[in-house]
Amino acid sequence: MQPDLRTGIENMLLRCGGLRPGQTVLIVTEAEDGGYYGAGLAEAVAEVAGALGLAATLRREPFTARAAPAAETLAEIGRADRTVFLSRLGDQLRFDSVLAASAPVMCYALDAGMMASGFGRGEHDAFLALLGCLNAALSGAREIRVTCPLGTDFAGPGAMFPETAAEVSVRRFPLSVFTPVPAGAYAGRIAQAGFLTGTGKTFYEPYTLPLDGVLALDFEGNRITGFDGSAADAARAEAHYRRIGGMMGTDPFFVHSWHAGMHPGCGWPVQAGADVARWGGGAFGNPRILHFHTCGAYPPGEISVNVIDPTIRLDGVPVWQDGRLHPDRVPGGAEILARFPEAARLFAKPERAVGLAPSGRLCARPEPQPVAASSA
Ligand SMILES: [Fe+2]
Repeated sequence: MQPDLRTGIENMLLRCGGLRPGQTVLIVTEAEDGGYYGAGLAEAVAEVAGALGLAATLRREPFTARAAPAAETLAEIGRADRTVFLSRLGDQLRFDSVLAASAPVMCYALDAGMMASGFGRGEHDAFLALLGCLNAALSGAREIRVTCPLGTDFAGPGAMFPETAAEVSVRRFPLSVFTPVPAGAYAGRIAQAGFLTGTGKTFYEPYTLPLDGVLALDFEGNRITGFDGSAADAARAEAHYRRIGGMMGTDPFFVHSWHAGMHPGCGWPVQAGADVARWGGGAFGNPRILHFHTCGAYPPGEISVNVIDPTIRLDGVPVWQDGRLHPDRVPGGAEILARFPEAARLFAKPERAVGLAPSGRLCARPEPQPVAASSA
């Protein structure tokens, strides 16, 4: 096995999963091999687990549009020392209390390439420490203002994280987003090009709504107050919200929360339009992406809105600047970079590929690559 792949898997099992030799690990995968998760990743995890002295069991669970785990699977999760989800099921249940007691690992490295990259190899403890620093800085700020090149501009006070719950019941691996900031105290405009898509909770049809141009959503607190852009996009988006809200029996125009990527090793080398659902489940951890959870008064809602290259200012300090996270701009951040060399390397040379089309924007369908000019 490629040493980098082994390092990534060990990082997940030992650092994130907290597993020790002699313990049991249950690996839940999707029954449809080689689709959403790359072929061979589950087997590689099992192999590394065995080499670490863990007793590994592989369990295939068919993917369903709404999370519907077999009772047998839940019982097996309860018995294992740790469960690792190489399956969207873990993501669908990430805010569900059914997993709270077992705190399974939800793996967002979707194939061996991602696992072997800096995304899988970046020290998990570094990102755990960074999460604490960022959450503290966000909640300690007097004002947060977010802007982006397409016109996003919203602001409000420091993050008012709920005292209890709301954070996920799984251990995310890699840990690539901070705790969702409740939207209630914010107002302004969110601008996104290309598409609206789901949140990974329910896989309804159509999961993705293509947009012609830039769509702006104006919001005040927890409510979307208007759609702006081309007349066709605005009408289409509003109808989509009403339809999905109706389908789910939820408040369509509810804006629940937002958060941004914090892992510079998270790269997405193909265009989002090649498979928007897979992009939505794998690319969001890059600091070039900030997303909102909307359509539903619960996390993560049913529609995500994705902002590219955000600048997030905490009391005027651009901690994220044009999609690049600067940990040294929050208290404690520089110490983390000094302590964890792999993470520091990633922040020094962040992954820039996040699935944008050649136009530099998100696009619902792949755009043709421009032909390189010939030197002849
Ligand atoms: Fe999210």
